[in-house]
Formats: sequence, structure tokens, C-alpha cells
Amino acid sequence: MKQTILVTGGTGFIGSHTTVELQQAGYDVVIVDNLSNSNADVVDGIEQITGIRPAFEQVDCCDKAALEAVFSKYPSLCGIIHFAASKAVGESVEKPLLYYRNNILSLLNLLELMPRHNVRGIIFSSSCTVYGQPSSQHLPVTEDAPIQTACSPYGNTKQINEEIIRDCIHSGSPIKSIILRYFNPIGAHPTALIGELPNGVPMNLIPFVTQTAMGIRKELKIFGNDYDTPDGTCIRDYIYVVDLAKAHVKAMERVLDAHTPDIDYFNIGTGRGVSTYEVVTQFEKATGTKVNWTYAPRREGDIEKVWANPDKANNVLGWRAEASLEETLRTAWNWQLKLRERGLM
Ligand code: UD1
Repeated sequence: MKQTILVTGGTGFIGSHTTVELQQAGYDVVIVDNLSNSNADVVDGIEQITGIRPAFEQVDCCDKAALEAVFSKYPSLCGIIHFAASKAVGESVEKPLLYYRNNILSLLNLLELMPRHNVRGIIFSSSCTVYGQPSSQHLPVTEDAPIQTACSPYGNTKQINEEIIRDCIHSGSPIKSIILRYFNPIGAHPTALIGELPNGVPMNLIPFVTQTAMGIRKELKIFGNDYDTPDGTCIRDYIYVVDLAKAHVKAMERVLDAHTPDIDYFNIGTGRGVSTYEVVTQFEKATGTKVNWTYAPRREGDIEKVWANPDKANNVLGWRAEASLEETLRTAWNWQLKLRERGLM
């Protein structure tokens, strides 16, 4: 019998790509999403790619009764991938209670419901934000690098949620977890049927780049060119969203295996640090499109440089990032072109 996975936030950017990879690996998927930051059409895009329509329940994970009804409706559920969360760093500073409520209550509900419904494994979406700015001896970052005080309520919810899962398992709850710490997910599915749909003015680099190349934004500002990096701009580890999605399939197989640790942590990145300037110039080269950009002052709260040491994911999870930055940037551009074609941007 096929195993069924609950994907919270499954109509979002990473959730939708992960649903596709899970289906292609032979899992049945039930998506739970409150559509607060996504659209139900995404389910159509997933179905067009895989030929299988995932079950979809419009439910807010903070609503425990509604969530419990989903557990009861799908008794074959055996694992959860928990993406559903509010994720705008700036907004989290303005509305911290909203972020603590949404991001923490939804996890508490899942952890309370799992043992009651015999659901054993949960993969949690965490972020490299938990490492803050690692010191030079901790770059590239391994999973053992110190966790640093979060720079925003959003970042803090990731840390707190990691601790909640750890304490819950430590207390003897009959569940297992893998915590994936993502670096910077970018790009879109090669079919351009699903991708990232930012609300309003994008805060993240790649949507801003593609929208500027499209003429939707007048000018991209590269925040800061006086950092202690080779070209003075910040360094990140940009990971192709399809590669990231595949890491979840590996993590799910592993968490459901009775012989693996009850809790484990993996960095999901390429191991390649790339500067903002390099991203913009690579984008222009990969797509043959000009981006109107200028240098601007540093953005408050930005990390200077961080990139992953993905050895543990490579060796233990048996996962590796495969796409080149050039291919990845091309998928982001194709997605932007598709949005224009569909009249969405
Ligand atoms: C941000 C969040 C991080 C979150 C991640 C999700 C902050 C401080 N951190 O990471 O918590 O997990 O998104 O994807 O917001 N840049 C420009 N011009 C722009 C936009 C970005 O130069 O218009 C630069 C930034 O300064 C940064 C790089 O591009 O150096 C990447 O920025 P972004 O995509 O916002 O991601 P992070 O800041 O790494």
C-alpha cells in the first residue's frame, strides 16, 4: 500500500515542489494549507506535472479541531512535512505575536495529534538563519556550528520550533523528526507550472531580479558593496528548489526507517557561496536579459556571508544538490515569463 504524507503549506513555494517529488517517488500526498499566502490553483499545476491530483484540505494548522478532522479522514497518514508558516522577516518584527502564534501553535497541534493518530515521522522546515553570522572558523557551516540569538521573531520561531521538537522527543513521545535547515531556495519547476509567487514587492533577491528584468520593478538595489567579501557584496548558498524538494523525499524515507535516530539535523545547501553581484551577472548571462541594478546601502539585519557544508546530507541522507546556478536562474526566468503569459505579473 502507498504511504500517505501530510504536507502542511503544500501550495506554497517549497511545499508544492516537494509534493511533486513525493508523488513521483510513489507517495500519496494530502495538502493542508489555509491559502493565506498561496492559491488553490497550485494544486492544478501539481496535477499537470505528475498526472496525480493531491488531496487538498483548506485548513489552518492553528485550528486544532479542523486539523484533527484531517488526521481522522486520512487514517493511512504516516508522515508529515511541516512547511506551513509565516515567513516575512520584516513583518515578523512588526507583528511578533502573530508570528509566534502562527508558527508555534501549528507545530504544537501537529505534535499533539501525531501520537493520537499513530503518525510517526515529521520533517520540519528550518533555516540557516539559526546560525546567524557564523564566525570564520565555522564557514562553511556544519550542523554543529553554534546556534546564535535570532535577529527577528521569524528566525526565533524556527529556533523555538526546533527546541520544541527536541524536547517533545526527549520526553518519550513516540515520534521521530528530521530538521532540515535550508539555505536560500530559488528557481522554479522546469515545466514552469509551479514556482514562487511573492505577494507585493518581493523581499527576496531572485523574485526581485526577475521582476526587474521583466520591467515590473524599475531597479534592483544590491544592498551593500562594502562587506568583507571578495567583491564587497553578501554571500549566500542558493539552492535549487527542486533539489531541496528531493532532500525532503530522502528525509521522509529516513525518518520512517525504524533504525535511524529519533531526531537529526541536516543542512540543505550546495556548499557553494555566491555573492549577490555574481547572482545578478550570472542571471544576465544565463538568460540573455539585462537587469537594471545599482549599489545601495546595506540592508539592516543582513548576514554578511553564510554557506553550507552539506557533507552530512550528502553522506548520511544520500542527497546532493545537482543543478548549476545557471540552470536554476534560467528556471526562475522561465517561471517569470510564464506568469506574464498567464497575466499574473
Ligand atoms: C532571508 C531571510 C531569512 C529567510 C530567507 C528565506 C533576512 C534577514 N533573512 O534571507 O531569514 O530564511 O530570506 O528565503 O531577511 N538582496 C539585495 N537586493 C534585494 C534583495 C536581496 O541585494 O532587493 C541581497 C540581500 O542583501 C542578501 C541576498 O540578496 O545578501 C539574499 O537576500 P534574500 O533573498 O532576502 O535572502 P536572505 O537575506 O539570505
